[in-house]
Amino acid sequence: MPEVTEKILRLPEVEMHHYKPRNPVEIPITKSEICTDAASPNFVRHIEFDVSGTLLENCIVPGQAVGVLADGEDENGRPHKVRLYSTCSPTGGEDGNGKIYATTVKRVIDENWDTQELFLGVCSNFLCDKKAGDKLWMTGPSGKRFILPENPEDYNYVFMATGTGIAPFRGMVLDLMRSDTKNDVVMAFGCPYRTDLLYRELFDDLDEKHKNFHYLKSISREDARPDGTKPYVQYSLLDQKELLFPILEKDNTLIYVCGLKGMETGIFQILGMLGLFDYIELKDSIKDVDPMDWTRDQLKTEVKASERMFLEVY
Ligand code: A2P
Repeated sequence: MPEVTEKILRLPEVEMHHYKPRNPVEIPITKSEICTDAASPNFVRHIEFDVSGTLLENCIVPGQAVGVLADGEDENGRPHKVRLYSTCSPTGGEDGNGKIYATTVKRVIDENWDTQELFLGVCSNFLCDKKAGDKLWMTGPSGKRFILPENPEDYNYVFMATGTGIAPFRGMVLDLMRSDTKNDVVMAFGCPYRTDLLYRELFDDLDEKHKNFHYLKSISREDARPDGTKPYVQYSLLDQKELLFPILEKDNTLIYVCGLKGMETGIFQILGMLGLFDYIELKDSIKDVDPMDWTRDQLKTEVKASERMFLEVY
């Protein structure tokens, strides 16, 4: 019987919903800095805020989110609904005393396909326009499932993210590496261009300093796999098999996935192809089918993550 099930994977109790949309708390922004390079066509900001003196102080853990209430009204004249943003901070926040937390926000700038009008994401631009000293209304914390387990040092981790999906993993990786874990921690990240490697310096630095930390980059629009396909983050499982397979084969390894929806079906299929069935659960109808032949529909409805894989996709 695998060690992990003998031990029983438990998640710690976390604090939740101290502030709801009906009773939000006003929080000052303390810092907002760009985390994409100047040449990037994307704008992602690292935004810090001060929760000292509120019930959020010292109670947000990596993987949890705060809600932001943007000023103004929607097209129906109602106040904007709350939008959730994952904290990218470790336990104890940016300052270590649980007063300053941060999030990672990409400005949504798009063109409406039908009307060809400019579309600006309401809350992402509201947040990214804020400067140090500005205030905003916040809710939270929320989320209790996408967090590190109790006794996090008992496990190895393979974190896979696209874009701002890296936010919760910045906090989790900082927690793990500060705990001096001797287990393996892999951060596999996918983004369009090298200019979009969020928190690159932090992860490069950890990779250099710790033999058990591995930072893998998949640059979809600049690099190509040997067969010419885009190196999406899930293909690291194949392309970096020498490093990842021995880690994934261990009974005490967990996979965490955060980012674009669509990524998870690719991960399911590759895990199946590699025979790593401890991370996925299959319906009976698909058990005798070769994972190479799983259809898109089967991947969506007949395969799901097991308790060893945590998913947060949007
Ligand atoms: P691409 O846009 O080249 O197709 P961002 O959030 O900064 O836009 O980054 C998202 C990254 O995820 C991009 O590199 C994007 O590639 C990539 N991507 C798009 N679709 C998928 C998918 N189904 N699985 C994994 N990665 C994906």
